[in-house]
Amino acid sequence: MFLEKNVPLQSYNTFGIAAKAQALVRVRSEADLLAVLADPQLASLPRQVLGGGSNIVLTGDVKALVLKMEVPGIGLVGETDKHWLIEAGAGVDWHALVAWTLDHGYPGLENMALIPGTVGASPVQNIGAYGVELQDRFDSLDAMDMFTGELFSLNAAQCGFSYRDSVFKHACGAADGLGLAGRAVILRVRFALPKHWRPELGYLDLERKMAETGIDSPDARQIFDWVVAIRRAKLPDPQVIGNAGSFFKNPSVTPEQCADIIAREPKVVHYPMPDGSIKLAAGWLIDACGWKGKTVGHAGVYEKQALVLVNRGGRENPCTGGEVMTLAKAIQTSVYERFGIRLEPEPVVI
Ligand code: EPU
Repeated sequence: MFLEKNVPLQSYNTFGIAAKAQALVRVRSEADLLAVLADPQLASLPRQVLGGGSNIVLTGDVKALVLKMEVPGIGLVGETDKHWLIEAGAGVDWHALVAWTLDHGYPGLENMALIPGTVGASPVQNIGAYGVELQDRFDSLDAMDMFTGELFSLNAAQCGFSYRDSVFKHACGAADGLGLAGRAVILRVRFALPKHWRPELGYLDLERKMAETGIDSPDARQIFDWVVAIRRAKLPDPQVIGNAGSFFKNPSVTPEQCADIIAREPKVVHYPMPDGSIKLAAGWLIDACGWKGKTVGHAGVYEKQALVLVNRGGRENPCTGGEVMTLAKAIQTSVYERFGIRLEPEPVVI
């Protein structure tokens, strides 16, 4: 284990916000975490786990000890009648994992191509896109209990997945007793990829691609290429324009609330969910309030997707986390005033 001090974090967060970590340790295996726990000075510090930095807003220098997850490795570790089991280290780039699985003949992750971030962060917010969520392909994960230094494994049920949520987002010691935030550090994740693969095409953008190309039974590689093209067309590349993906979750409402909104706003984009609730497209709500292209300081709302907040100052004059949060609060207020809906931010504010 090697302790680094005053580490610039600008290239470690996809917004490109300039901030420093007072202390940072790169975690390449469980031994690095055990070394942190064995060091009397480090063990007592609060900790902040950092993956690909694609879902965080830094509002200042980080005083907690940053654990930068860099556990490597991807491989086939087993199989059942129905699934291939693929394991990847927490530090592996998510998109690199998706590409690896397709290159090696294990389809199933293609709808989630090009999601920024690392494998270790993927269960935390149960990432998802174009009709597939991480929980649909998840087998289990290994983590370390930072209170005791013990290694443990969790299956899907134990991770408590729901829309952009899991036990890893809930504070340890919370009322429901299930939270593992601040306690568990994810080291490796295993995916169960179907041997009898079928394409997941029930998403409007993919239906459009099928109609445009005339291909009605695409293979996994074709879907991967489509998803990459769709994302490149509507979402900013963090290498070019800093951002943290969707800034708000799509809110859920009751059918009665939805009927009420439709009566006033007939065009509101909404999707009935299997549990009877209705999900509203947050991007549409924000767009309807006129936010596309608006700016606060160097933070702005992306011109092509109102759900994405961006850093308009680049690396030279980056936005601050404060500007991002001021803009986010102004958006929340105007959506609440017009629709009576409270938008919940998706990234973690540090
Ligand atoms: N819309 C607008 N104006 C906008 C943005 C969207 O009218 O400025 C409308 C679109 O036309 C569409 C609807 O809102 O009818 C939904 O938009 P889109 O299909 O782009 O998806 P989304 O709900 O905005 C979600 C995820 C994305 C994921 C896509 C595709 C959330 C919060 N976001 O976005 O995930 O890639 O679906 O599955 O669930 C992320 O979480 O960072 C992320 C990018």
